Amino acid sequence: MKNSSKGIVACAGNIIYVCSLMIMVSSCSEKKVITEGSVWRDSDGRVINAHGGGFLYYDKLYYWYGECKADSTYRLKKVSTWECYRSDAKGISCYSSADLINWKYEGIALSPVSSDSSSDLHPSKVMERPKVIFNRKTGKFVMWIHIDSDDYTSARAGVAISDKPTGPFNYLGSFKPDSGDSRDQTVFLDDDGRAYHIASSEGNKTMYISLLNDDYTKTTGIYTRNFINESREAPAVFKRNGKYYIITSACTGWDPNQASYAEADSMLGKWTTIGNPCSGKDYDKTFYAQSTFVLKIEGSEEKYIAMFDRWNKTNLSDSRYIWLTVRFDKGRVEIPWTGKWMPVTE
Ligand code: GAL
Repeated sequence: MKNSSKGIVACAGNIIYVCSLMIMVSSCSEKKVITEGSVWRDSDGRVINAHGGGFLYYDKLYYWYGECKADSTYRLKKVSTWECYRSDAKGISCYSSADLINWKYEGIALSPVSSDSSSDLHPSKVMERPKVIFNRKTGKFVMWIHIDSDDYTSARAGVAISDKPTGPFNYLGSFKPDSGDSRDQTVFLDDDGRAYHIASSEGNKTMYISLLNDDYTKTTGIYTRNFINESREAPAVFKRNGKYYIITSACTGWDPNQASYAEADSMLGKWTTIGNPCSGKDYDKTFYAQSTFVLKIEGSEEKYIAMFDRWNKTNLSDSRYIWLTVRFDKGRVEIPWTGKWMPVTE
């Protein structure tokens, strides 16, 4: 895994956008720019531990939910067919920020259950790729998580709810959405209030997009099979100008591969694969990272950040974050490598 050096800083009151320009000398001391792949620290100076992240904007703050990984990484000996590196699950962490640069640690939003080795939330299990959406009707924050056994053979989706964005989230249990496997996953909340679960299913070969029920805690039985036998993972969905986009990775465990994106006119409609959105250095390896989320900047029509994890498979808690500006060229999605960023005021 490649690491980059630390970043610089910029100032701003209501900054919300991270862009790729590099020139900037700051007159303000507390703001910083995070260089892609550098160690990113929270407002207390601790390394941010929130991998496979999901993001939520609520009441003027952004929330970052992620896998809180224990320090030590081990390889599961009973798995011989692939490199099953693991670190114990320390729950789902939560951070908040007004500017997407400075993040305050809000604690563990969904706690592990150390006392019961049969629990989905036992540290020996897999709790990955948490995503949270807010349900206006029920007033609940709903978290979806990839829940799995230590060897990734159970392949389930877990759901938890909370009255507050920071938790504590109350775990409702796990299940097989639409009777299928559910590994790498995300949720997408559309403007019309409908929400969808998107997951690698059928042994990771085919991706399911499932309409959720009104309270967003279950699937409805209405679902589509997508990218059939294409083995796509790491889904990140966004919408722009009425069109839906999904960025995915190929299926190579913790190792990087080439990203691809597809577009559709509706979530349950036909998805057309366009190709690799990445460009620049290491574009064919997704910059040595893997997609997790695309965040639309609140109040803007055009500004989106594509978020990736640069996994360090032998030291998973030291995996890094790569955030890049999404650009649109005649409707085509482009994610150019930029090396360094700085925030830009709106
Ligand atoms: C990746 C997946 C990660 C994690 C890993 C385990 O393919 O995207 O979230 O599950 O496999 O090897």
